[in-house]
Amino acid sequence: MGTLTNKRILLGVSGGIAAYKSADTVRRLREMGAEVRVIMTRGAGSFITPLTLQAVSGHPVYQQLLDTDAEAGMGHIELARWGDAVLVAPASANFLARLAQGRADDLLTAVCLATEAPVAVAPAMNRQMWNNAATKANLATLQKNGVRIFGPGEGSQACGEVGPGRMLEPADLAGRTSELFSTGVLDGLHVVLTAGPTWEAIDPVRGLTNRSTGKMGYALAAAAMEAGASVTLVSGPTSLPDPERVRTLRVESAQEMYDAVLAHVSSAEIFIAVAAVADYRPVTRASEKAKKSAERISLELVRNPDILASVAELKPAPYLVGFAAETEQLEQNARRKLEEKKIDLIAANRVGADLGFESDDNSLLLIGRHGVTTLTAQPKTRLARSLIQYIAERYHAERRDQNSRQAHRR
Ligand code: C5P
Repeated sequence: MGTLTNKRILLGVSGGIAAYKSADTVRRLREMGAEVRVIMTRGAGSFITPLTLQAVSGHPVYQQLLDTDAEAGMGHIELARWGDAVLVAPASANFLARLAQGRADDLLTAVCLATEAPVAVAPAMNRQMWNNAATKANLATLQKNGVRIFGPGEGSQACGEVGPGRMLEPADLAGRTSELFSTGVLDGLHVVLTAGPTWEAIDPVRGLTNRSTGKMGYALAAAAMEAGASVTLVSGPTSLPDPERVRTLRVESAQEMYDAVLAHVSSAEIFIAVAAVADYRPVTRASEKAKKSAERISLELVRNPDILASVAELKPAPYLVGFAAETEQLEQNARRKLEEKKIDLIAANRVGADLGFESDDNSLLLIGRHGVTTLTAQPKTRLARSLIQYIAERYHAERRDQNSRQAHRR
């Protein structure tokens, strides 16, 4: 079972007796690390109150499409963008019918239609309704459209009958929701990443550093883990917690980062250098805090090793991904780095006001030998998943090409 750390889950609740379990579903999702916002249909309000779901989720519950207050806060499009996944539990027969038809006549169906995130439904209904040909046809349509169907289970039903149509239990639903994020595209591979800034000490209290927060590298490490890789993250000083199930090695200077990477990268198939590594470090490091003296002093600096370029020299080298943060001429500068450092893929982003280092949103230009792709501005966690998916596709495509070239030579 995966986790839901840092995941934003939209829980849709439609009108059925199983809606009384929704408070528990919210709790289970939150226990697994998710942030949860709840959307209720009109029918759901007959079985559970918005106040209950507001209390357990910690957020107001969304109920109205085109309500002026709601649309001014978080409208249906914003909600659709906010969610990393949508889980509708319980999903009534009527809700499944409306979703299958692509209707957008209430908030929940409109969000399901507008989202790019995966949508899962947990059907809950009387066994006759479940077995009805119309419900079966709706389910087939939903499956064809990529909607995941969780359950239903079998057993005694609220109506006194026994059979299929019971909603799965909240703990099971939370577990299955976490599996939506486990793509398996990096199954069995070892990925090493660097992240964060480096700290080049001048004396025991002062040093040279930069404004990298490490968010992008940490999000990529988590996304690589979700995609099935075993992950080693070599991190400079950040205030972020270690990503779950990622081997995180904390370092300070570029030299320490270099040593840690070289100690672990030989078993890696993919190396992703996200860290903003200082190009220079002070020639000497004072053992005591330096005192004020002359009006003007100078600090002599020496070049740091280039970690990415050094890994590129290894034989065999892993698949190499670099980052280029640029304030100008994004594509030209990134392309130059791709060639100079002999790497496979470079992810370029523009840094400046509200972009890059300290923001949560980011867009990326991906430049490889095969061409250029843009990943549009989106929260770093989602961008990280798209980038890992892209890296996995390129890695597998290039390995396939290499194998077929080798087979040709034989
Ligand atoms: O040359 P520049 O620093 O702009 O290149 C950026 C890319 O190279 C990033 O992927 C960064 O992590 C990596 N890099 C490195 N070691 C250095 C400098 C940069 O791995 N000393």
